[in-house]
Amino acid sequence: MFSSETYINRRNELKKILKSGILFFPGSVDTPMNYRANTYKFRQDSTFLYYFGIDAPDLAAVIDVDNNREIIFGNDRDIDDIVWMGQEKSISEKASEVGVTETKSMSELANSLASHIDAGEIVHHLPQHQAQIMIEFDKLLKIHPSEVNDKSSKDFIRAVVKQRSIKSDKEVAEIEKALDISYLMNTLAMRASSAGTLEREVFGAVEGLALGMGNGISFPVIFSVNGETLHNHHHENIMKDGDLALLDSGAESLLHYASDITRTFPVSGKFTQRQKDIYNIVLDSQLKAIELIKPGVNYKEIHLETAKVIASGLKELGLMKGNIDEAVSQGAHALFYPHGLGHMLGLDVHDMEGLGEGFVGYDENTQRSEQFGLAYLRLAKELHPGFVITVEPGIYFIPQLYKNWKAENKLAEFINYDEVAEYMDFGGIRIEDDILVTETGNRVLGKSPIPKTVEEVERACG
Ligand code: GLY
Ligand code: MN
Ligand code: MN
Repeated sequence: MFSSETYINRRNELKKILKSGILFFPGSVDTPMNYRANTYKFRQDSTFLYYFGIDAPDLAAVIDVDNNREIIFGNDRDIDDIVWMGQEKSISEKASEVGVTETKSMSELANSLASHIDAGEIVHHLPQHQAQIMIEFDKLLKIHPSEVNDKSSKDFIRAVVKQRSIKSDKEVAEIEKALDISYLMNTLAMRASSAGTLEREVFGAVEGLALGMGNGISFPVIFSVNGETLHNHHHENIMKDGDLALLDSGAESLLHYASDITRTFPVSGKFTQRQKDIYNIVLDSQLKAIELIKPGVNYKEIHLETAKVIASGLKELGLMKGNIDEAVSQGAHALFYPHGLGHMLGLDVHDMEGLGEGFVGYDENTQRSEQFGLAYLRLAKELHPGFVITVEPGIYFIPQLYKNWKAENKLAEFINYDEVAEYMDFGGIRIEDDILVTETGNRVLGKSPIPKTVEEVERACG
């Protein structure tokens, strides 16, 4: 964990922003995989980690802003726990490491929250994602599980998003540790992929690296020769020459900060001319975005600029036609680029998405579009120094999407449907990096640049 001052300062800042109120922070619990004692790998709630740092299940915390009290609730291990799981630090020892001096047992949580409610105070909470925790809300706060998220405190959400959005140097350093692992994950996949190899073998090796070097993956690995399926978690294909393999993956540092990198590479080690042409359009659009990222610019504007680079490139190849600005404003590029340019990155790979994407990626000046493609943009609002974001444009040929659009002759003034038909076996290409917005512009994160140009990728494929 970071030093106790880091957590003390974060909580003091939160209290300063919110000024008053009782704030309730449930930590994560272990989740059964197939029976109660056989659980999924534990992952602490990111907001709990941010303010209280303790990476263990069955904890909760309460901040009473008005009285400047901070309490961590949890149980010390009993003799049965010690026999099966080993001895560990007491709750009060762990709490003192993050600057909290008051601790209570879990059995005192219900009464403690009830005393605030009985005194007419409101206990504020954030949206929750674990079913077990939502059920607890019924007992603890008389909030039905189905209402927990609707009844979450908007001011509390806004305050947390405000703080967690701006990464300190130490947080950036953690993300760069995750990127060190990403470098190895990506270059391993490039070397290990060849005709006759199962996607599963590469997928497993990549995930193993993340587990061996950090806290495992930051989201389920996407690895497929069918890169046109954006979040493809099927890994059963046998790779063959001529295929493009798309790896979208990330690691967690030991303090749970994420990386999120996509590379697309030829299984044979050499791109065909047709693959190179599409690859370089995606690369140009990604580089264009990196050139434009700086404080004060809306990410939606940068997204639209990448869409223009993609539409112009596809026009040069004869797949699109007409006026490019018009094509992008009507959303014609979304046949090929149906997702957003990127998202925040931090303790979560889609950072703070559990608090509501509308609070993280949008604000009072930026509304979500309803247009197909643009509607998926996770981050649209103005960029500020300290944001860490992903930049991940792509071009995909999705046969069913093509069929649906062609059947309607949708936006036919911008799309050469007969030419696009020739690309139905192409797959998809995405290129993704992680970027820090600085005072004057940006910095592409990662100490070792991950091969990205056609030449670099071919060299890394060996
Ligand atoms: N989790 C996949 C991505 O956002 O890149
Ligand atoms: Mn990704
Ligand atoms: Mn991403």
